[in-house]
Amino acid sequence: MMDLEKAKKYLKDYDQEQLLAFYDELDEAGREKLLSQIEAVDMSLLKLIGNKEEITARGKLEPIAAVTVKEIEKKGEVYKKKGLEAIRNKEVGAVLLAGGQGTRLGFDGPKGTLNIGETRELYIFECLINNLMKVTDEAGVTLPLYVMTSDKNNEETVRFFKEHDYFGYPESEIYFFMQDMAPSADYNGKLLLEEKDSLSLSPNGNGGWYASMAKTGILNDVKKRGIKWLNIFAVDNVLQQIADPMFIGAVIERDVVSGAKVVRKSGPDERVGVMCLEDGSPSIVEYYEMTEEMRTLKDADGELAYAFGVILNYLFRVDELDRIVNEKLMTHIVEKKIPYINEAGEHIKPESPNGYKFEMLILDMIHLVKNCLPYEVLRNREFAPIKNRTGVDSIDSAKALLKENGVVL
Ligand code: UTP
Repeated sequence: MMDLEKAKKYLKDYDQEQLLAFYDELDEAGREKLLSQIEAVDMSLLKLIGNKEEITARGKLEPIAAVTVKEIEKKGEVYKKKGLEAIRNKEVGAVLLAGGQGTRLGFDGPKGTLNIGETRELYIFECLINNLMKVTDEAGVTLPLYVMTSDKNNEETVRFFKEHDYFGYPESEIYFFMQDMAPSADYNGKLLLEEKDSLSLSPNGNGGWYASMAKTGILNDVKKRGIKWLNIFAVDNVLQQIADPMFIGAVIERDVVSGAKVVRKSGPDERVGVMCLEDGSPSIVEYYEMTEEMRTLKDADGELAYAFGVILNYLFRVDELDRIVNEKLMTHIVEKKIPYINEAGEHIKPESPNGYKFEMLILDMIHLVKNCLPYEVLRNREFAPIKNRTGVDSIDSAKALLKENGVVL
């Protein structure tokens, strides 16, 4: 391991000597912890800070055709049969992304443990398990659910599931694995300390989920079971349809390696990443990367050409994931509220963003896969994300949508 002298020199090279500010006050264990974190940190991330405004050059963008709701109405039964068959053949697993910190919500605890019930307890995790069980009840078989957590919330998440008897889902079908962490920096590019003996580390985004499955060994279970498809979804959409047989069936029927659930944009200016083709390969373009012309472009039917926003629900073929797992995803720099200790050693919990975190995003995986089928779903049936306390994508809006869909709160 790195000793103090080495660490000093190393940090001087990167202009990060503030990380040792409290070293003298630490006991032996604290010193070791700090030095090992310094050794593990990826300093190359710091280079990204200066380039924050630089948007990666895009290839040629074109609209992509989706399976629309209209088409699904016609072929839904065929898709459903195919999807159920794959589930019954034990070819499908699900991956719940629950490693995020949900800073916008500002809830103290893993987001999935939030109770949104009114007359009873109803937790976000419970909503998701209920949705999954609708499918497994119909199929007559269960499927494995892999839950990604982080060092920040793993213990609490695991305990919560256990305390609630896994909300009725078989314990033997639920697996937890942890994602990797990344450092945080202030606006001047100085890495932050969270404690005198530890760096401010936070989950490194949802893009590394498959690599983390491999690294933690959880992928062995996927392989042992002969799982061919993984359905990945976010924790915060309480109307999330998991292992949706029609979606799975459509992807299988079209003989593609992945699919993305999408909703039609509410209008040209909705701030959502949309699916498109980039140099002929599937891709997701962020709203701020789209020109006015692209945003308003119409197709032959007079509908928006770039119309389909992603909702973080994807299906991937496992052999395709294996093919791309070692490809490097770009790192995004995001401004966040980051608790830290200041020069005086005081804990500060900022009210507004005070620095950067580094994240890899799952949407960048879409450009790596051979093909991807956008699959349209109805927003008010399948999309009720809880990102904020109030307003858009909030607890309030999600509750209203749950009620609209007959869920008793
Ligand atoms: P969000 O983009 O909403 O990020 O995550 P977040 O960090 O949880 O929330 P904010 O931005 O701080 O408010 C979308 C999904 O990806 C998961 C989240 O748990 C959520 O299901 N996620 C995000 C991870 O699993 N790991 C991460 O590092 C980040």
